[in-house]
Amino acid sequence: MSELETISMHVITSAEEICAVVLAAKSSGQSVGFVPTMGALHEGHLSLVDASLAECDLTVVSIFVNPTQFSPEEDLEKYPRPLQRDLQLLTERGCEIVFVPTAAEMYPEGVESTVEVGSVASPFEGASRPHHFQGVATVVSKLFQVVPADRAYFGRKDYQQALVVVQLIEDFNLPITMRVCPIVREPDGLAMSSRNTYLRPEQRQQASALWQSLRIAEQAHAAGETDVAAIKKKMMQHLNSAGIENVDYIAFVTDGTVQEVETVAGPTVVAIAARLGKSRLIDNHTIG
Ligand code: PAJ
Repeated sequence: MSELETISMHVITSAEEICAVVLAAKSSGQSVGFVPTMGALHEGHLSLVDASLAECDLTVVSIFVNPTQFSPEEDLEKYPRPLQRDLQLLTERGCEIVFVPTAAEMYPEGVESTVEVGSVASPFEGASRPHHFQGVATVVSKLFQVVPADRAYFGRKDYQQALVVVQLIEDFNLPITMRVCPIVREPDGLAMSSRNTYLRPEQRQQASALWQSLRIAEQAHAAGETDVAAIKKKMMQHLNSAGIENVDYIAFVTDGTVQEVETVAGPTVVAIAARLGKSRLIDNHTIG
């Protein structure tokens, strides 16, 4: 008996099997929700699971650390993989079906096709992490084939990723409805992330400055400031005073797009990426 089979839930490793389970549920009239993850689950992931459980008859979660979205110098090897704990959390939450494929199951030898998403994937995360969104779009396309659910649940934490998936669904006429759920934060405002475990205690303390800088943007705008350059300056000052010097980008974009604005004139997403030591954190917040 494998390690996976000792857990009292339905853990499926075969693409063919999970597909059959989902199709059988749908043909018996059940609605199916799908939450793709890379595991190391936290309350952010679990909020997506809750949303699916509340809306769908059957919820499938996938746990797969997708190698194609990591560049060679990134953290693929050391990405946390606490599988037993993840399965326990999902069982407690009431999720009964988990798809845990191997890399060979998702990318058998001979696979050559990839999915290239257009301009939405270019700036910000796409610029900082070349090929990242190609890897995400490729694996999400494959997962949507293998888990032909009615609805997919993604987090707004990865704002640009959600836009990439929306574009993918539209461009390829994929028969799945996208749900984008709010960001879940730690008590001090830090957006939950599997990568937060990399932070040393002093970095963990500094990391809350990301959220504070987003709040500074919100407050500046509420006080009447609409000039993006002026707001960015305030944010940067705060980040620097917290000891965060390595800011990849601060971007103000029209909500639902990656179109940068110079003036806050309507719903605007403020997105930020910064490095703390070897860790790279991203966050965003909607103002206006
Ligand atoms: P992962 O980083 O594990 O995230 C899985 C899902 O959880 C994503 O939709 C992400 O936006 C959401 N999520 C993460 N932290 C969150 C938070 N604090 N609040 C709300 N939602 C949060 O994103 C991926 O995996 C991968 O790129 C994947 C889509 C699975 C493709 O490999």
